[in-house]
Amino acid sequence: MLRNLMPKGLFGRALILIVAPMIILQAIITFIFIERHLDTVTRRLARGLTGSIAYFVEMEPRLRDQNLQDETVDALARHEGLLIRFDPGANLPPPVRPGLFNLKDGPLSIEIQNRVGKPFWIDTESRRPYIDIRIKLDDGVLQVLAPANRLEAGFTDMLLYWMAGLTLVLGGVAVAFLRNQVRPIGRLADAAESFGMGRDVPDFKPSGAAEVRRAAAEFIAMRERINRFIEQRTAMLAAVSHDLRTPLTRLKLELELMGDHAEIRDMRADVDEMAGIIDEYLAFARGQAGEEAEVMDLAALAAEVAADARRQGAEVTLQTPDLVEGAWRRQALKRLLTNLVDNARTYGGRVWIELRAAGNGIELTVEDDGPGIPPQHYDDAFRPFQRLDPARTPGAGGVGLGLAIARDVARGHGGEIMLGKSAHGGLAATLQLPR
Ligand SMILES: Nc1ncnc2c1ncn2[C@@H]1O[C@H](COP(=O)(O)OP(=O)(O)OP(=O)(O)O)[C@@H](O)[C@H]1O
Ligand SMILES: [Mg+2]
Repeated sequence: MLRNLMPKGLFGRALILIVAPMIILQAIITFIFIERHLDTVTRRLARGLTGSIAYFVEMEPRLRDQNLQDETVDALARHEGLLIRFDPGANLPPPVRPGLFNLKDGPLSIEIQNRVGKPFWIDTESRRPYIDIRIKLDDGVLQVLAPANRLEAGFTDMLLYWMAGLTLVLGGVAVAFLRNQVRPIGRLADAAESFGMGRDVPDFKPSGAAEVRRAAAEFIAMRERINRFIEQRTAMLAAVSHDLRTPLTRLKLELELMGDHAEIRDMRADVDEMAGIIDEYLAFARGQAGEEAEVMDLAALAAEVAADARRQGAEVTLQTPDLVEGAWRRQALKRLLTNLVDNARTYGGRVWIELRAAGNGIELTVEDDGPGIPPQHYDDAFRPFQRLDPARTPGAGGVGLGLAIARDVARGHGGEIMLGKSAHGGLAATLQLPR
């Protein structure tokens, strides 16, 4: 439950980590301040105010002389700021309900009750800047208007505004700062993603906090090691293949000179096959090494491969959108497609190619109406130099590299090739590529 509410991104999480304690702290401080401190202060102020009123109420029965009474009222107005009026025969109005944030009514009521001890009525809100206090005496109502600020601790509002303002400013600074901290991690993830899809990220530079920078530097080092490893492997295999060619050519020549026995014909076929393997591998290694990803149209490439196959006599049904653009290695993808279509042609007959957008990538399926491959042999089919049941298709002179190369290319683009059963009866080879 709580886990689902938690934001997914680092930014959101870090923000909560910083902002939540800040808000809780503010809430607690505000609560304590208002509940305890403000309440105490207001109580004390109320005590001062009610003191004067209590004094007057106590003296009132003795102030029979009108002049003396007027003088007292006058003195209280000058020294205490109280405006006192007597309403003979009046009654208290119905009580007013204090507003939600009223902090004065409570303490004031308590003090009046304690000191004056008579029925009373107060309104601290509607007659600003005065507080209206009325007290029921035996023969009427005493109305006292006291300056509202006599009950105010003064700088309370300011403090609350300052706290809210500072929270906003500090929160804003935290947000900006956090954004900057999180951005390098996102950039690192992007770079890793591009690299996984076989694209180079030349302008990627480590930035941000020390740990992020270290991770980025390690990532760059790792990328270079992997690149170096791939290059080395390809170069070495290419060199071996290349070196094998010379003795093979010599062998071929010698066999050529040895006449036309049946065994010699077999040996010639074997040597031709070896030469074929080497040629294919060399072609692949040459393509794989050094080709850069470029923006290209996969639909056009599929059409090109289909046209090539048709020229060689295949019956190909092609279904693609008009334009499928992405940054891929053109030569490598062409080899991949050609290999799949060649297989479909060789082991099947009719070929169906279908290209479509899938999620945030593309999906390309090559299908045929041949015998297909039993599911338990899917993995074997991808193994280099692995040919399934050669007796089944005599004369199909493959060397068993086609699918291995295709998978290599797909994975080099961050994609994958999967085999399955086609609705047309044969094999369905599906290429998935991220864009
Ligand atoms: N469409 C298909 N239908 C039936 N079997 C297939 C199909 N595609 C591949 N295979 C089987 O999988 C094996 C491996 O295929 P792969 O393309 O890797 O090698 P290959 O076709 O034998 O040789 P190469 O492609 O290097 O010339 C093939 O020998 C074949 O038995
Ligand atoms: Mg093949």
